[in-house]
Amino acid sequence: MCGIVGYIGKREAFPILIGGLKKLEYRGYDSAGVALLNDRNLNVYKEKGKVATLEASCAGKDLAGGLGIAHTRWATHGEPNSVNAHPHVSQSGRLAMVHNGIIENFGTLREQLQQKGYEFKSETDTEVLVQLIEFALTTTDDVKEAVVRALNKVIGAYAIALIDREHPERLIVARKSSPLVVGVGENEGEFFVGSDASPIVEFTKKMVYLEDEQVAVLQPGKSPEIYSLQNQSVDYDIKEVDLDISMLTKGGFPHFMIKEIYDQPQCLRDCMRGRVFVDNDNMSNNFIQLSAIRDYKNRLLKARRMIIVACGTSWHAGLIGKQLIEQMCRIPVEVAYASEFRYSNPVIEPGDVVIAISQSGETADTLAAIQLARENGALIFGVVNAVGSSIARASDTGIYIHVGPEIGVASTKAFTGQVCVLTMLALQLGHELGSLADNEYHYTIGKLAEIPELMEEMLKSKMDDQIKRMALTFTYVRNFLYLGRGYNYPVALEGALKLKEISYIHAEGYPAAEMKHGPIALIDSDMPTIFIATHHQLYQKIISNMKEVKARNGKILAIVTRGDKEVKAIADNIIEIPPTLNTLVPLLTVIPLQLLSYHVAVARNLNVDMPRNLAKSVTVE
Ligand code: M6R
Repeated sequence: MCGIVGYIGKREAFPILIGGLKKLEYRGYDSAGVALLNDRNLNVYKEKGKVATLEASCAGKDLAGGLGIAHTRWATHGEPNSVNAHPHVSQSGRLAMVHNGIIENFGTLREQLQQKGYEFKSETDTEVLVQLIEFALTTTDDVKEAVVRALNKVIGAYAIALIDREHPERLIVARKSSPLVVGVGENEGEFFVGSDASPIVEFTKKMVYLEDEQVAVLQPGKSPEIYSLQNQSVDYDIKEVDLDISMLTKGGFPHFMIKEIYDQPQCLRDCMRGRVFVDNDNMSNNFIQLSAIRDYKNRLLKARRMIIVACGTSWHAGLIGKQLIEQMCRIPVEVAYASEFRYSNPVIEPGDVVIAISQSGETADTLAAIQLARENGALIFGVVNAVGSSIARASDTGIYIHVGPEIGVASTKAFTGQVCVLTMLALQLGHELGSLADNEYHYTIGKLAEIPELMEEMLKSKMDDQIKRMALTFTYVRNFLYLGRGYNYPVALEGALKLKEISYIHAEGYPAAEMKHGPIALIDSDMPTIFIATHHQLYQKIISNMKEVKARNGKILAIVTRGDKEVKAIADNIIEIPPTLNTLVPLLTVIPLQLLSYHVAVARNLNVDMPRNLAKSVTVE
């Protein structure tokens, strides 16, 4: 985690760096800091807490300089305080550096440096690395070479940006397993650096995505020079990145999360654009076209097994993907937590397809899982949001979900985008395999294309107000149970996760029928149960589960299909969603649960977009 920003050029660096940190704050907000170099004058300012605290504390200070680096931290080594905050400065005061990642052998390196007389102010692995670079400067005059030598001694993950008082004309950056993007200004007269493109895109759309184990030297007026860790010059591509800046603002909403919930109809339209084709006059002309399938058709159609690897919300989307693919394609699918998969000595065979689902495209566990799968001969299929991210680049093929940058730490639009992509994938594969009947294929496509409109209908109705009122009655509840079956079981898990992460209320998701095997013991009048009870073949069985809860004085909130009468007669509260196919229902049932967690968190006066202890992009194990 952590976000890093850098700038070198003719403008004042400080406002660019602060603006950039605000855009990257979703990556961590334990502390923030900035280092500015004006000629040979180095100023470093750091504060515990958010970027706004840093900005306020910088008022009236010397902020001059056209070269700077900045950092927003998600603490790994050492508590969140201003000493452990980045940038870290080398012993002589010559170098300043920001870092995202973890140096695993920092303890050994630190001891070695201490024996050579280096002293450390912080508990961080980053300070060890900047000292190691300074130590390498005792054997070479070339800073880039010192960086290369130091990085060759390091085990772990890093994206770094380094400034050197002796060379105020250059900014040095490097990466391994943590993301880093270089923005190339007009005529190469200035350079921008970011953990992702969001702090850069307002200045330039030309970007270089640094590869693993590369070091770049950025000097205005010259083309970027990129080197391998063998100190060899390497070629690179400058890519045009198209990012809608309006996606990076709250657009009048009080929080990114609620904006992103409301963005979902448009996001799904964007996700389906150029992929889902509907003929309203003749359903049999409906089709799906995914270029990712065209290019790897044989391997995908011959897959004997698929394994989905993901974490958190993306893992929940994977559970839905499993049901879709197994039902429509009749291919067995396993869903693994990426963190468990990578250490489980998994059985992977050359005919396997591994689907990696990730919003950020930078989740360390998911990235490691696909690296392992690739070594064992599997085809890697990425379902990713962040264009050009590490997982996207490490995949053989894949489908971007195209829902735009997701800033709220609690994932919302990425979930529905992922489910939408997995639905399109299952439909097209099932059709090509012949395991999905033609009429079901065409009919489901028509229904999928209607989902954005149905979402809009829900969001424009009184549902949000209704949930807001309910949330007030749940503000002081300490435990929740979320129950669903079939396609709604992963939605129950997702609803519970949303509530946990932003409201800090304990919540558990279960398959409804599992309740009687344990969780039923928890039921009493203080613990609400949320049932997702839309019409499908197991509807009557869910009704029985509800009666079991009522018999024990439990309170029920149920998400039901519009017009439902049976559940209405049992539940204390209901939220209606428009009717759709059972295979598509998670795209709608998740919305009230997203809204519920949002309103409960707001009612509890919590920081919805930056919940405690969490970061948007989990680039550490
Ligand atoms: O970027 P990814 O989709 O790989 O992230 C995976 C999880 O860290 C993420 O979904 C996390 O669980 C979210 N905070 C959930 O809202």
